[in-house]
Amino acid sequence: MNDVLPAFTVRLLGDAGPAMLYRAAAGQSLVKSAALAGVRFTTGCLQGRCAICRARLVEGAVTPLRRPSPHATSNPAARPDGCVLMCSVGPLSDLVLEPLSPWELLTTAAPR
Ligand code: FES
Repeated sequence: MNDVLPAFTVRLLGDAGPAMLYRAAAGQSLVKSAALAGVRFTTGCLQGRCAICRARLVEGAVTPLRRPSPHATSNPAARPDGCVLMCSVGPLSDLVLEPLSPWELLTTAAPR
């Protein structure tokens, strides 16, 4: 049995920091994968309610990882504003994302 989940490349764009690549495992939120790679996003509830973790999905596909919060107003993987909620979705492919809130590198990993 193969327990290794596929992983995809996530490229971050935007004014909040330099372009950055990190690996994100299928079935793991983009916020959690980023933290493991040394990237910290601005987050709040981590439950799909506050939408502070919004990112514009430029390329690729994501899937919701949990049932939507009863307080959520839209699908975290397909919001009407073209954004996804990084705390509540995982990758289905390589991604290009433009986070709308600041993010920072927590490690000395070189931006790409
Ligand atoms: S941190 Fe609140 S919706 Fe993602």
